[in-house]
Amino acid sequence: MGMERKALVTGGSRGIGRAIAEALLRQGVGVAIASRHPGEAAEALKREGLPALALPVDLEKDPPEALVAEAAEALGGLHILVHAAAVNVRKPALELSYEEWRRVLYLHLDVAFLLAKAAFPHMAQAGFGRVIFLGSVTTFTAGGPVPIPAYTTAKTALLGLTRALAKEWAPHGIRVNLLCPGYVETEFTLPVRQNPALYGPITARIPLGRWAKPEEIAQVAAFLAGEGAEYLTGQAVVVDGGFLAY
Ligand SMILES: NC(=O)c1ccc[n+]([C@@H]2O[C@H](COP(=O)([O-])OP(=O)(O)OC[C@H]3O[C@@H](n4cnc5c(N)ncnc54)[C@H](OP(=O)(O)O)[C@@H]3O)[C@@H](O)[C@H]2O)c1
Repeated sequence: MGMERKALVTGGSRGIGRAIAEALLRQGVGVAIASRHPGEAAEALKREGLPALALPVDLEKDPPEALVAEAAEALGGLHILVHAAAVNVRKPALELSYEEWRRVLYLHLDVAFLLAKAAFPHMAQAGFGRVIFLGSVTTFTAGGPVPIPAYTTAKTALLGLTRALAKEWAPHGIRVNLLCPGYVETEFTLPVRQNPALYGPITARIPLGRWAKPEEIAQVAAFLAGEGAEYLTGQAVVVDGGFLAY
């Protein structure tokens, strides 16, 4: 890469977001990780010689625009936005309250829109931008054996947002893609992995026969964030061990 790129990674304290932050840092990108408790991850990365900025934020409460402003200011620019902060409520639709529905939709979808909108001027000014939202195999299906109606709706809607922004912002050098992991070993999926009645059938449906490590998703994110993905925009990039092909 020519000039040093700067990235904001929400949900960068653990799981997929953390792995993406690390992959970007290894590519020489300046990274701010944002979550409610980003300090420990930033310390651990620093010990590996990968200094990242830690921005504490609760995206269910704090304005996303303020986070983007803070990141751009502290990093000295913003070229890459990754929105990997996550919440889920695993209940069938008839048991899901409107508040729970809104909570999941807000963090995954509304915050994605607000972050990207706030990031636009910084990217447009640089003539280079990479927006990576996190989709899922539930972008295309209702999901596995656990009912997650709000989550699957948010992940499908994110494809619409990805396409709309990709189209609007292409003239500014900004590429917008939806990275769609299959089943990944993170804290997010711990309750599912700890339940043998769920873990067995899900794993059996993955042609590669195992769940992904966060690093395997991060490799693809790092590609999407780089110069090599110049002609790639408005796409859902599925990294699922063949789950959807089954
Ligand atoms: N794991 C999978 O199998 C899988 C599959 C498909 C898609 N995905 C998607 O990939 C993304 C990352 O998931 P993951 O599995 O890595 O989840 P994870 O391990 O649970 O990590 C979630 C991250 O979000 C942060 N976060 C949660 N609530 C927040 C809030 N209110 N404000 C700011 N940050 C918040 C957490 O940090 P703090 O606790 O410090 O706030 C953490 O860094 C999500 O969009 C998820 O839907 C995951």
